[in-house]
Amino acid sequence: MKIAPRSIEQVRETASIVEVASEFTALRRQGAHYTGLCPFPDHSEKTPSFSVTPDKGFYYCFGCQRGGDAIKLVSELRNLSFVESISYLADRSGIELEYEGNSPEEARAARERNERRRSGYKALAAAAAYYHKYLSEASSDSATAARGYLYDRGISESTIKEFRLGFAPAGGGAGFLQVARRVLPDVDRKTLDEAGLLSPRGGERFAGRITFPISDRRGRIVGFGARSLGDAEPKYLNSPETGLFNKRDLVYGFPQVAEGIRKQGAALVVEGYTDVLMLYQHGIKNAVATLGTAMTPGHIKTLSRDAEQIYLLFDPDAAGEKAIQRAMNTAIELSVDLRVLRLPEDPADWMHHGRGTPEEFGTMVESATPILEYSIRRIAEGARGGDAMSRSRAVPEVKALIQEIKDPVLHREAVRIASEALGVDSTALQSQGSPGAAQGTRSPREPGREAQGSDPLSRSGSEVLALILTRPDLATKPIKEGVQTEQGPVTLSPEDFADEPQAAIFSALQENVDGDLGDSLSDERLRPHIDTVSSLSMQGDRLYPSEASMRVAWLRLRILRRERDKKQAEDFDLKDRIHTEIQGLQKALRSAEADAS
Ligand code: UTP
Ligand code: MN
Repeated sequence: MKIAPRSIEQVRETASIVEVASEFTALRRQGAHYTGLCPFPDHSEKTPSFSVTPDKGFYYCFGCQRGGDAIKLVSELRNLSFVESISYLADRSGIELEYEGNSPEEARAARERNERRRSGYKALAAAAAYYHKYLSEASSDSATAARGYLYDRGISESTIKEFRLGFAPAGGGAGFLQVARRVLPDVDRKTLDEAGLLSPRGGERFAGRITFPISDRRGRIVGFGARSLGDAEPKYLNSPETGLFNKRDLVYGFPQVAEGIRKQGAALVVEGYTDVLMLYQHGIKNAVATLGTAMTPGHIKTLSRDAEQIYLLFDPDAAGEKAIQRAMNTAIELSVDLRVLRLPEDPADWMHHGRGTPEEFGTMVESATPILEYSIRRIAEGARGGDAMSRSRAVPEVKALIQEIKDPVLHREAVRIASEALGVDSTALQSQGSPGAAQGTRSPREPGREAQGSDPLSRSGSEVLALILTRPDLATKPIKEGVQTEQGPVTLSPEDFADEPQAAIFSALQENVDGDLGDSLSDERLRPHIDTVSSLSMQGDRLYPSEASMRVAWLRLRILRRERDKKQAEDFDLKDRIHTEIQGLQKALRSAEADAS
């Protein structure tokens, strides 16, 4: 479903760029701007070069040249997709999003679904708060026992607080269900059930257990893992799969570990909730746990938005080799550097038993094996010790694995590892037309973001766009009627600009010329170029916009474009005509320059 443009515009209008940016960096007001240290984790600086202009709704960093609007900032710093960012900002400002092409009935149904989801989140948040308070404050035997249990396991009070661990008191009419009736009168049983808070018998699902709230990447509580205090089976009870809770994509640890993961660009994936907590407590703040399942491609996708490197840490007895193979394919697809390591012991126990310092744990993690090498070695190991015959039997399997690898660099690397591990010649592992055969280059993770305007045409185009963005009022006439010269009006078209982004920006501005600048800024075609737009708009003020300077920039661009056309023209008559035209334009330019100075 597509979000309606008017909703996007509403979100853009309402979202406060200062508020959003302030969540990530401290801003100071300086006239019409706010400045602060750049909040992007890969740009650490000592003097502020990050600038926010509330009346334009833009941010721009003069250091790393990143810029955009509130939607872009949220999407970059929280690693959300465009749609997720819109919905995040809409939630914050209480905007009800509308969707394209929905009939009124569909719109109503969507609103109701949304309403139910929101009630679900509310119920889960209230339950987490109740359980947490109960664990922290209740004087009952069970609460005391729960605190004692966590204490014995070495989980500190601050960890309990930070991760909002709780305890769900057992039955007997007390507990969250009772409280919910009182504090959440508008949340009915159906909602509680849909939120996974009820047991199949209709009681409280987690009664008698320590609760570990599980949040999505946006920080909303979506479910729980819950451990029994004693030996009651099952040891851990998790929320059932619901509309809000989906084990294949969710991991335990967010939002607390989000910052750690982003800062380091790396995530550790462990198996238990307590592992996450103990690592965190010892300063290793980038670990998450799967929710009692093997790692899925969904988990890798989730994590890959914050981490370029993912370390999968196993228990000694863990199986899940198949899962590793699937994870490998996803990792390669997403160009995530996935590494695996079998640990001698659960990280929680390792920490609790003081097997080493956190630094030593870190060193151990660093020794993890790249997934490709791991997989190939696993197969090769199966054949090891065998004769040449059994080793050659492993070749097809390894070859099939290698064939899956489309990236040429990785492909060659895999061939090298495999031929070494299997003791066979690399040609035996290479299939015809494989990507490793051709010399290829990996595309960089982040394309674009190059400085604008290295050549005169593109510089001149930037100038025109910057002026239009800064003073749309002065630009209306030239856009619609062109700039007047003795030869007639000079109009610009998208083709006059040097590249695709500039052309797209111009055509969006041109089409919305009678509307508000905000309309152009919400134009869908502009979204991919919003960083260019913001940087142009920040430069605009330095160009001393005026009616005359607009004309100057306009004519200059036109002249440069025509000069390029002239160079490319093959017909001499055409060359000559363009030459005459340019002379006329230059005359007009000189007089505009005189007006501007
Ligand atoms: P473990 O049995 O290794 O749990 O299962 P653990 O984390 O070491 O538990 P402690 O240390 O005894 O408290 C690892 C993970 O598998 C899931 C949970 O997510 C757990 O953290 N699990 C385990 C379940 O979902 N249900 C179970 O009954 C057991
Ligand atoms: Mn354990």
